[in-house]
Amino acid sequence: MTKLVEIENVTVSYREDIALKNVSLGIEEGTFLAVIGPNGAGKTTLLTVINGLGRILSGSVRVFGISLTLRNIGRIRKDIGYIPQNSNIDPRAPISVREVVSIGRTGKIGLFRRQSYKDKKIVEGAMGLVSIDDLADRPIGHLSGGEQQKVAIARALAQQPRILLLDEPTANLDIKSQKELTDLIDRIYKENKLTMVFVTHILSHIPTSCKEAVLMKKGKIVWTGKIGSALQESTLSDLYDYPIEIVDR
Ligand SMILES: Nc1ncnc2c1ncn2[C@@H]1O[C@H](COP(=O)(O)OP(=O)(O)O)[C@@H](O)[C@H]1O
Ligand SMILES: [Mg+2]
Repeated sequence: MTKLVEIENVTVSYREDIALKNVSLGIEEGTFLAVIGPNGAGKTTLLTVINGLGRILSGSVRVFGISLTLRNIGRIRKDIGYIPQNSNIDPRAPISVREVVSIGRTGKIGLFRRQSYKDKKIVEGAMGLVSIDDLADRPIGHLSGGEQQKVAIARALAQQPRILLLDEPTANLDIKSQKELTDLIDRIYKENKLTMVFVTHILSHIPTSCKEAVLMKKGKIVWTGKIGSALQESTLSDLYDYPIEIVDR
């Protein structure tokens, strides 16, 4: 199997704070990986490292077999879809859902190039895949939290990425929207066989087709393995520094 991401001994710091300490991680093509851990564990920082935006103090990162350097970051990032923890589109911006999803294409075709017929098809296809066709002409500010997350996913899919990074996409949603989005993410993985990394601190939000896990705590990967074995009372209690009881109902 090809490793799409190879992180070796990476340390990241924000001023005097160390956010990642000597982290190593390989992600094989086609894997759906959950990154689980409490707030402040370094999960978002790990995603920014993969996405070429981490402030790396030491260590090395290869994505798609290429070393991440300032010169080739732009090229590599075209193939990485990123759904950030907080939506980075101002809801007051006077743009429609279709235009937001089209932003996903601009990375590929350039900002001021006209979209071809094929680009438009890809944008419509991405909206169809997450079932937001009927929202296409709505202003971005007029959507619920769940709908906004679907738009963010469609935008990333319009990019036709090789890797999809999802940073707590379900964290702020009500229970119905959360379940809908979890099922949607599950379906996207099954239908596209993308390599996906799903960050969460809420264990019940992990889609069922996600089978691999890394557990993070205080800037370190403390455990790697199958998700079934990660979700054990003793492992989770250590991770969250809190007694966690798994209850069968
Ligand atoms: N932009 C930043 N400036 C300073 N410190 C930061 C910044 N982003 C994150 N940190 C710190 O780095 C650590 C890891 O943060 P983060 O990767 O966001 O964790 P998580 O996503 O697991 O909650 C935390 O201690 C956090 O306070
Ligand atoms: Mg985070």
